Amino acid sequence: MERERWGSRLGVILAVAGSAVGLGNFLRFPVQAVKNGGGAFIIPYFISLFLLGIPLMWIEWTIGRFGGGFGHGTAPGIFHTLWRKNRFIKYFGVIGIFGPIAIFIYYTYIESWLLAYTFFPLRDDFSLISKKDEMVAFLQGYQGVVKNQYFSSILPAYLFFVITFVLNLLIIYFGIKRGIERVCKIAMPTLFLFALILVIRVLTLKNQINPFWSPLNGLGFLWNPDFSSLKDAKVWLSAAGQIFFTLSVGIGVILTYASYLTKKDDVLLSGLTSASTNEFAEVILGGSIVIPAAFVFFGPVGIREVANQGSFNLGFVTMPLILKSLPFGKIFEILWFFLLFLAGLTSSISLCQPAIAFLEDEFNLSKKKSVLIFGIVCFLLSHLSVLFLSKGVVDELDFWGGTFALVVFATVETILFAWVFGMENAWEEMHSGSDITLPKFYKFIIKYITPLFLLSILFSWIVQYAIPTFLMKNYPRENLPYIIMTRIILVLLFLTLCILVKISWSKKGEKFET
Ligand code: ALA
Repeated sequence: MERERWGSRLGVILAVAGSAVGLGNFLRFPVQAVKNGGGAFIIPYFISLFLLGIPLMWIEWTIGRFGGGFGHGTAPGIFHTLWRKNRFIKYFGVIGIFGPIAIFIYYTYIESWLLAYTFFPLRDDFSLISKKDEMVAFLQGYQGVVKNQYFSSILPAYLFFVITFVLNLLIIYFGIKRGIERVCKIAMPTLFLFALILVIRVLTLKNQINPFWSPLNGLGFLWNPDFSSLKDAKVWLSAAGQIFFTLSVGIGVILTYASYLTKKDDVLLSGLTSASTNEFAEVILGGSIVIPAAFVFFGPVGIREVANQGSFNLGFVTMPLILKSLPFGKIFEILWFFLLFLAGLTSSISLCQPAIAFLEDEFNLSKKKSVLIFGIVCFLLSHLSVLFLSKGVVDELDFWGGTFALVVFATVETILFAWVFGMENAWEEMHSGSDITLPKFYKFIIKYITPLFLLSILFSWIVQYAIPTFLMKNYPRENLPYIIMTRIILVLLFLTLCILVKISWSKKGEKFET
């Protein structure tokens, strides 16, 4: 079967940037910055960007294009082409299909709330709400966590979930060029435009009663550095974690996107451009909306409380309350939620593609069959998030799929690329078809610094988070059955993917094993 291709260079850059720009940019980043030393956070953040994020971006673009040349669009096949002598490395590649599925089955549900919240202002649903507690009750009612005057069942949430889910599948069904590329070419500029309008609106806000509560001081609150925070290892871990999350590296999606390039296509400049686009959306746009807005309304004391309540609260509770109080507030609410919906959509479609590519490439299934199988499995699995949201299931999926898997996967791919494939081959492969030449010190960084950085993060993660999480320390007792069920399902998913890899490789015969 002829492999699909991107239609244009801009298309693939926007698609990768689309995968990267997500809720992480507009909600997670500002909260992380406020919690981890304000402006000082940007130091470990940029160090992680240059030593971890950008090298991983280049690695994933390069190995994706390399594997695509052998007809493999997902990590099992790509890892195999990088280390043909090893029979087990393809099973490590399974993480690159498992992770995106584990994230997709909760991410789409959250994305569907955004679609719903884009519609609610049109129906004046927030018109009688003026307090934070009411907004929280509205959200919880919508999520089906409680029954209240706003919602008596989870049905509306379920409906929006089905619409969002089908929309994702539809885009994927249309393929790389006619589906993903076309959507990203429209969604990305739209998203940037909406974000820019919101930034301008927020930066021109005024608090008549307390002039000190200005957007400028809000920016100061976010960016004034607290250098003492740099002594705390947690701050460094959070910065590295944010880089992974926001760039979508270590998940397995970028290599799949890059597998649809041809050998002649540049990967270095394109990878750098998509990373820079994401950073602009994060540091400049993401940093200039929620925190300055919340500062104007809640002041220096209130804003700490708001930030501590986390990203979701900021997005779904604080922001609509702030925006609705402005002239033409309804329009700004719609812009805000639709912007986040588009950011989510361009990320979630990238999460579908590895599993689809796996079925197409390794089992020669048609797009239609692949989408159908993926759709049925993920639809069933998503019910974990829809039905058991309040039982901690989403956090659990996020931990294994969205945090742990990323660090392990990134470590494996970097060592494989720089040490097994070999740095000389790696450097040559990176530069083939390239529009830029990297400074030589990046050879050193990719070979030594990035793997060491990753191994130390992996080690700290295991000690600080994985072991306590694995042992389910500090989990509410009533949630344990749901957490255990989620873990059993995740293990089964992982094993099923390993078995599929085994079947596919044995079918294709020995020529693949050499
Ligand atoms: N990279 C995506 C985000 O920032 C997942 O939300």
